[in-house]
Amino acid sequence: MKVVLTRAVALGQDRMNADMTRPMTSRRPPAGLRGTMAIPGDKSISHRALMFGALAVGETRITGLLEGEDVLRTAQAMRLLGADIENHGDGRWSVAGRGIGGLVEPADVLDMGNSGTAARLLCGILASHPIFSVMTGDASLRGRPMRRVTDPLAATGARFTSREGGRLPLAIEGAVDCLPLEYTLPVASAQVKSAILLAGLNARGITRVTEPEATRDHSENMLKHFGAEVIVEASGAGRIIHLTGQPELLGANVDVPGDPSSAAFPLAAALLVPGSRVRLNGVGLNPLRTGLLACLAEMGADIAVENRRIAGGEPVGDLVVSHGALRAIDVPPERAPSMIDEYPILAVIAAFAAGNTRLRGLGELRVKESDRLAATAAMLSGNGVAVEIEGDDLIVHGTGGPPGGGGLVATHMDHRIAMGALVLGQGTAQAVRIDDGAFIDTSFPNFFIAMRELGAVLDLA
Ligand code: S3P
Repeated sequence: MKVVLTRAVALGQDRMNADMTRPMTSRRPPAGLRGTMAIPGDKSISHRALMFGALAVGETRITGLLEGEDVLRTAQAMRLLGADIENHGDGRWSVAGRGIGGLVEPADVLDMGNSGTAARLLCGILASHPIFSVMTGDASLRGRPMRRVTDPLAATGARFTSREGGRLPLAIEGAVDCLPLEYTLPVASAQVKSAILLAGLNARGITRVTEPEATRDHSENMLKHFGAEVIVEASGAGRIIHLTGQPELLGANVDVPGDPSSAAFPLAAALLVPGSRVRLNGVGLNPLRTGLLACLAEMGADIAVENRRIAGGEPVGDLVVSHGALRAIDVPPERAPSMIDEYPILAVIAAFAAGNTRLRGLGELRVKESDRLAATAAMLSGNGVAVEIEGDDLIVHGTGGPPGGGGLVATHMDHRIAMGALVLGQGTAQAVRIDDGAFIDTSFPNFFIAMRELGAVLDLA
């Protein structure tokens, strides 16, 4: 079945790379936000379900898959590598896998669009198959560092040839007999950890990854779920993961929980707009993803977690969020891995809190879909919020009331800057405009409509 990308669909076009920007305006609504939103599937888990399904023997059935562009790129790449992937509608997908080592040489370039996760995890898979492939991405992804995966993966026997600075496009000659790696992560990155583990699946012997700080563990959880032998050992603030190579992964059922990183945007809007009370259903609550909730509890936010349950092996709950006064906090750097994608929206929330909020240790934000540290600071300062960057820290001077707004935010092909700015505009005195909301489709395809259903005032152009 053909993959149709959502942005192309929204534009009424049946083609990829629809090269059109989508300016948007966000205004304070006349009343509080009200209602219930079902949170779209977790992006990290969705990528992994398709990739592990393609490496398993037999059928994998997925429910709640995020049908955002990033994940559709992964589906398309895994198809080019020989997996049979079908969309049954309503977030239900199936994957007929080829087994570890069974992927075939792709007949075309693998275009990973805007997705760093898809590109980096796939490097681990491609390094461990004796095939030739070429990978590229959009202008944002082509600017992002890939050496963090290609340098360690070269020790498997794979060869990578890239542009200057290790940037995409990348040519990959996978190892004929992949060697297992022992690697200590120099940066706290679940993507790097996962790339090493994925290569280790097709290596004889034990692959060992040491992470000095614990990062999201969806790969480890899902590998176990598919039948791999994975041992996770606590080690100080981090972990050591031991994976036994060449297991037989068996197709499995995966229920994808709602993405806490997507839930963060309607959650923030409800906190900022007076009179709001919103229910967010099915939000993933993996403890390695809930740093934002820890921060918001310290800020005095009114958030109740109801119906705690396990879905697809991950903790899930419904969040009930109400507007209220917030106080400034100091966010320690060790919290970063558990909320790495939530700093732009936390900075927006901090702009409404009373006092100065300091977000520490944000160096990794410089290499996300955009330089998110600079883009977040520019978003706020262009809308009447005083901010400073000191080293790797961001300081937001909150006023305890609505900031002025009135700015035009440059989103730099970054979905989280776009959604953050649109949430900001729900609370500011003047409207906030963004230059391009098209990239929101990478992670939250129905954001615009779902937010309007809660009462948000968002307009195209
Ligand atoms: C992800 C890990 C994080 C995160 C990204 C998704 C993953 O990146 O920012 O959105 O699915 O493993 P890093 O591992 O580079 O921090």
